[in-house]
Amino acid sequence: MNGRARTATRAVPAGTLGVVSEPPQSPLVLVSNRGPVTFDVDGGIQRGTGGLVTALTGLATHRRTTWIASAMGRGDADRSREAGGKAFNVDSPAGGSFDVRLVVSDDVAYERFYSIISNPMLWFIQHYLWDQSNAPDIRSHEVEAYEFGYKLVNEDLADAVVEEIEGERDPVVMVHDYHLYLLPRMVRERRPDAFLHHFVHIPWSQSDSWRVLPTKIRDEIYRGILANDIIGFHTRSYRRNFLQCCEDLLDLEVDHKQGVVRIDDREVWVRAYPLPIDANATRELSRRARVREFEDELLRRRREHLILRVDRADLSKNVLRGFSAFDLFLEQHPEFVERVTFMAQLMPSRTDVPEYSEYLEKIEALVAVVNHRHGTPDWMPIQLKLRDDVEEAMAAYRHYDVHIVNAMFDGMNLVAKEGPIVNERDGVSILSENTGAHEELGQDALSVNPFDVQALANAIHRALTMGADERRHRIEGLREVITHRGPGDWIDDQLADVRRKAAGATADDELTVVESDG
Ligand code: F6P
Repeated sequence: MNGRARTATRAVPAGTLGVVSEPPQSPLVLVSNRGPVTFDVDGGIQRGTGGLVTALTGLATHRRTTWIASAMGRGDADRSREAGGKAFNVDSPAGGSFDVRLVVSDDVAYERFYSIISNPMLWFIQHYLWDQSNAPDIRSHEVEAYEFGYKLVNEDLADAVVEEIEGERDPVVMVHDYHLYLLPRMVRERRPDAFLHHFVHIPWSQSDSWRVLPTKIRDEIYRGILANDIIGFHTRSYRRNFLQCCEDLLDLEVDHKQGVVRIDDREVWVRAYPLPIDANATRELSRRARVREFEDELLRRRREHLILRVDRADLSKNVLRGFSAFDLFLEQHPEFVERVTFMAQLMPSRTDVPEYSEYLEKIEALVAVVNHRHGTPDWMPIQLKLRDDVEEAMAAYRHYDVHIVNAMFDGMNLVAKEGPIVNERDGVSILSENTGAHEELGQDALSVNPFDVQALANAIHRALTMGADERRHRIEGLREVITHRGPGDWIDDQLADVRRKAAGATADDELTVVESDG
């Protein structure tokens, strides 16, 4: 079995969604790489990880839904075989019961799908991470990974979708993320009547970044995702980029105002649905007894100021520049020596991908350098925690003075929304202008250009010396925006568009909706 189980990431807290009004009557099928639960070899059951799982959990418990996902390890594969490869009902440890279908793909194919094409290839393109004078080289290794890995796993999941909707009238299929760009077309060919909706949880990068891919692969990917009826993104700017890509790369007819791509006599609606967090569930989670234990320890050891970051150890999160900025800050403001700690809780991620394991090594090396340069016998400037522990993260959220999210590019970044909800010290948020969350939170956070190390060092200083009134004002502003909408609204907006389009609305009917959004 490949290493997919080991590359799991932190789950944002499980929550209950608000009421989803008037769900369409047709059966709903969700399909994503990661599923809502995952099984240990001894039959134990864990909640699936990632923001995507959190976003969809409430929907799946609210209405009749079958959630199709890849089997993540031997435990999942065993459980899937036990169910004859079909859907089975399961109670999630995070609450709720699901119909789940876990699809077992060939191990080698899955490795190629996950660790070569999805990550790093597509992830790096969509986060502008390729250092193009050096990488990537597209050779038979990559082309074969696409043909016999990415395509194959998409086919396996598409087969499962087609089987699940067999005999159903007007089925609705909600596809998730960059792992499954080919699947919609595969389903569409066999079920032209299906309503296909695809939400992309990561940025959609500008057209030239896609030129890394050979034309044939690129075209297949675009034609794959354009087989959907609706494509959703977190922000208006990703929606704009997607529309522009369709024009630039495929020469398709695009209506930017209406947010529509016309292809093969069909209209594809392209929409922005920013993902909210479940603020109540986040607060509840932060009150757990185990969180208290971490808090006691943290309070016992804390210095005057605490700077915090909580991230997956992903290159896009820009961890190294964060530490370099702290290094610079300490050099330029020695008065803070021994008075501040930078706590970084980083979850190792995708460690089977060489770029990710190398990144972890670089992180550890830089922390050692900064700690050696500025540390004293009883003070370690950076406290690095390489683990996935949501309760430990919650304890730190409660007590930070400064929260840093300096991702180079990030689809949304839910951490930026969780921190201010839980924090008790009127902590200041420093937020990269290239995160999806910045479209909503930019006004009350301290915005930074994530590449400008000096600007981040200055922002750290400004945050640590900010007056109490301004801190209070800013965090209240953040909370107002964060709590304005919940995950139920997010799902409602998408299902409302599904209903409108399925009922025959055209982009012309929708003009006002899109314009107010953009
Ligand atoms: O944002 C994209 C996403 O798939 C999220 O759902 C998840 O939090 C993250 O990436 C984790 O990725 P992986 O499934 O590779 O661990």
